[in-house]
Amino acid sequence: MAADCDAALEYRMYRDEGDLPGIMALISADLSEPYSIFTYRYFIHQWPELSFVVLDAGIIIGTIVCKMDEHKTGPMRGYVAMLAVHNSQRKRGIGKWLVRRATQAMRGAGCDEVVLETEVTNAGAIALYESLGFVRDKRLLRYYLNGNDAFRLKIWFDPLPPHQQPPEGEAHAML
Ligand SMILES: CC(C)(COP(=O)(O)OP(=O)(O)OC[C@H]1O[C@@H](n2cnc3c(N)ncnc32)[C@H](O)[C@@H]1OP(=O)(O)O)[C@@H](O)C(=O)NCCC(=O)NCCS
Repeated sequence: MAADCDAALEYRMYRDEGDLPGIMALISADLSEPYSIFTYRYFIHQWPELSFVVLDAGIIIGTIVCKMDEHKTGPMRGYVAMLAVHNSQRKRGIGKWLVRRATQAMRGAGCDEVVLETEVTNAGAIALYESLGFVRDKRLLRYYLNGNDAFRLKIWFDPLPPHQQPPEGEAHAML
């Protein structure tokens, strides 16, 4: 367990469909975009090793859902699709652990960069991502259904040295 983890909580990768109701409840309580169960399954079934949860007494209180694919300009691009921490559990480092862990997993799986969008008014999320090295790459006008603009935030990686490359198919071993 990393030094910045709370020993009372469980930190782990997505396990199976049993995690889905808790993930959906958290995300739908906080994000402005409505997602169907098919959207969750699109991400989680294809990239289960890129989704993580934090639990308190078996209840999911934080989650991040990501994917990766080759961008049209060439690089392998990771993407943070969803991130939420229960509002009673914020400001104790859970969001930062989730973003750091998912970013490590995407890097370990071969991503050259990671991107995401966040509402320009979401000061908490922007501060969190910027504290981890993400920068503002673009402003996307009226990106959200509610009419708000988004910032595209982005982080670029240097290539991993050979001794840190995970064994093939074991990106999740990069703890
Ligand atoms: C954004 C969110 C995930 C942050 O989760 P969290 O567990 O509270 O974040 P952390 O405690 O790990 O905070 C890490 C850093 O982020 C920043 N931060 C987090 N919340 C903040 C806030 N409300 N205001 C300002 N900075 C904030 C701080 O820099 C903090 O570092 P610090 O501990 O040194 O002060 C959480 O507020 C949330 O779920 N919001 C609703 C959903 C959402 O907006 N998701 C992001 C969509 S892109």
